[in-house]
Amino acid sequence: MSILEVQDLRKTFTRGLSRRKTEAVRGISFRVEKGQIFGFLGPNGAGKTTTIKILMGLIFPTAGTASVLGAPAGDREAKARLGYLPENPYFYDYLSAPELLDMVGRIYGLDRAARRRRIGELIERVGLGHAGKRPLRSFSKGMLQRAGLAQALMGDPELVVLDEPLSGLDPLGRKEVRDLIFELRDAGKTVFFCTHILADASMLCDRVGIIVKGELRDVGPLGELLSPKVQSVEVVWAPPAADADAVRAALREREGEHETTSEGEVMRTRDPSAGHAFVAAVVERGGVIHAVNPHRQSLEELFVHEALEGDA
Ligand SMILES: Nc1ncnc2c1ncn2[C@@H]1O[C@H](COP(=O)(O)OP(=O)(O)OP(=O)(O)O)[C@@H](O)[C@H]1O
Ligand SMILES: [Mg+2]
Repeated sequence: MSILEVQDLRKTFTRGLSRRKTEAVRGISFRVEKGQIFGFLGPNGAGKTTTIKILMGLIFPTAGTASVLGAPAGDREAKARLGYLPENPYFYDYLSAPELLDMVGRIYGLDRAARRRRIGELIERVGLGHAGKRPLRSFSKGMLQRAGLAQALMGDPELVVLDEPLSGLDPLGRKEVRDLIFELRDAGKTVFFCTHILADASMLCDRVGIIVKGELRDVGPLGELLSPKVQSVEVVWAPPAADADAVRAALREREGEHETTSEGEVMRTRDPSAGHAFVAAVVERGGVIHAVNPHRQSLEELFVHEALEGDA
């Protein structure tokens, strides 16, 4: 059984008197299995938060189905087994972080002793120990994000759904939250999170789904989504000391893009056999090869490619 499953999910928002429609989600399907870290990746406005809100039962889909922990999205029993960090966590801002967690712990039905223990653990874990009893009103963005994460984990959930968990955090905070997400996975939990930051997804995820303009473009392990084939080759070389100018000029006549950089002469080509022939030509003329760098598609490029195709 999948922990999370959506089938041909659609959401169209209708706004104002003009009844203007926005197709936020346009028929997406995917599954998330137990113990995975699944990254839902897409640019601003792609439909990530809309999908998450449907999964949390906060809004209803226009069509399609969503199930969470084996029950239809919004099911009360399933909700007790999941934790959720909203995109813009709204808090009772006169409460302190321990008071917020205590309230959430009550909602999860934890007894007093369990709440105290869990609050102590979580406050340390998200690095809010120093905030003491200060009200959330006085928290910085990053501190609020940490409090939001702590409340999502209060019920020791099997599934954690995080809407942009790393936003608003400084580099140390990002590292701490990444470690926390790995710890959750190691403890057998399932993590579903969305982000528009590619580096975060590539560091964290077992699988990703890429959503662009409400459509799911790709789902799979990152390694498979990235084209493993070499897309281009970069040859870094130097002409021989004797006759340098003539050799440089001659070799720069050859096919490929040529450039002089601080590392030396650089030649780039999309054709691997042209790269090979170029290396041979440099050696033949007494030049030196400093490096041959194959270039594979990065997640960044895949993402930009998908986003641009969406425009076409
Ligand atoms: N309540 C709403 N009423 C009308 N349109 C909405 C509503 N909520 C979202 N939308 C529209 O749906 C589309 C998808 O929005 P969504 O918030 O799901 O994007 P997102 O992928 O989470 O983006 P971001 O990375 O900026 O958080 C956008 O065009 C947005 O304007
Ligand atoms: Mg969003």
